[in-house]
Amino acid sequence: MNVKALKGFKDILPDEVGYWQRIERTARDVFHRFGFAEIKVPILEKTELFVRSIGEATDIVEKEMYTFLDRNEVSLTMRPEGTAPVLRAFVEHSLHTLQPVQRLYTIGPMFRYERPQKGRLRQFHQLSAEVLGADQPRLDAEVMAMAWMLLSELGVRVSLEINSLGCPACRPSFKEALLAFLAERAADLCEDCTRRRDSNPLRVLDCKSSNCQAQYVDAPAITDYLCGACADHFAGVEQGLGLLDIPFRRNKFMVRGLDYYTRTTFELVTDQLGAQSAVGAGGRYDGLVEKLGGPSLPGIGFGMGIERLVLLLQAQAATSVEPSADIFLVALGEAAQELGFRLAQSLRLQGLRVLLDLAGRSMKSQMKQAGRSGARFALIIGEEELNKGQVGLRDMGAGTQSDLPLTEDLKEWAKALAGKISGGR
Ligand code: HAM
Repeated sequence: MNVKALKGFKDILPDEVGYWQRIERTARDVFHRFGFAEIKVPILEKTELFVRSIGEATDIVEKEMYTFLDRNEVSLTMRPEGTAPVLRAFVEHSLHTLQPVQRLYTIGPMFRYERPQKGRLRQFHQLSAEVLGADQPRLDAEVMAMAWMLLSELGVRVSLEINSLGCPACRPSFKEALLAFLAERAADLCEDCTRRRDSNPLRVLDCKSSNCQAQYVDAPAITDYLCGACADHFAGVEQGLGLLDIPFRRNKFMVRGLDYYTRTTFELVTDQLGAQSAVGAGGRYDGLVEKLGGPSLPGIGFGMGIERLVLLLQAQAATSVEPSADIFLVALGEAAQELGFRLAQSLRLQGLRVLLDLAGRSMKSQMKQAGRSGARFALIIGEEELNKGQVGLRDMGAGTQSDLPLTEDLKEWAKALAGKISGGR
């Protein structure tokens, strides 16, 4: 019997990895420009961390976590998201004592037992960024601008939707208005909404049923119920986005699937991924650090799904995936192969990515491999070239070829060649 991968767990094969590398490299580059530092946290945590942060009455905690008991009967969970583990680490290591404002990011797999479909997996990967210790509205705008910059640099076009969920002081008055609105329509609500109305009323606004959505068009807007401080904050966020020329749209139905949010929430959405429209999402979570046993510090962040980014890049053919190699070394005959074998090593020592055929295939077959490999250049060593003390350098993109004289000192020769061709990178 063949053992297959688990449903919703995907192998990322070499032909796709180029996209992943480009996404991660661009993300690190953009995050560093905004002063973020990387943090790596475990994949497995105590279950209570997620129950306490994400909230008991959420889809994630109710039905999507990979939870099991270890040998000591301690309940453990494969992290369904990155915020709670980063905050746990922040509290555990008192990171706030090092710097009043911490900007942290992490990249890695998350696990949710969802129904797999395009863009929705059970093991997926997030780029996840958090800022802890500051609550200025301009920070919210800055964090969104960072997500926006990353997507722009990847060539991915999305829309930014924002909302404010208020704070513990003003949210109850909205909940009351929403419950009154729902009570009038009790008979028409779907089963899920009827259940959620009691356990987590805000979540009904996120219902996927078109019948419910049609009814909620007239639902009260949370932004009409904000207290003065939350309204000022939201206005400041919108102003900040304006200053940075980031286009956005208000979405009064955006409630997010995690309970820790306060004030600003946002989603980066696309219509190119079917039902999975969110490429990234996040918001402010003032109070969460304290809830996890830390000092009373505010926070904001976002998570972006790498698989969804890859799908968008593939769909938009925003290719520019890294060529797999700089040079494919084509060598014919015993002496040329020996020289090629040594040259490959010297060129790799110079930082070039070099492929070569060790099987002694024909010139035609090696040239074919060179073409297929995506290498930028073919370095050709045939018997004739060897007799003349030179090699051929073929620019695979342009289809042009020139001769290069060989010198005794392979190291120096490789260095000169590396200098010559890395200019075009
Ligand atoms: P989230 O909205 O649950 O937020 O997930 C963020 C992003 O992860 C989504 O927009 C989506 O791109 C991706 N994602 C989520 N679930 C899946 C899945 N099953 N398959 C593929 N991609 C998925 C959070 O996780 C928060 N921790 C974000 C955050 C950080 N808020 C503040 N800081």
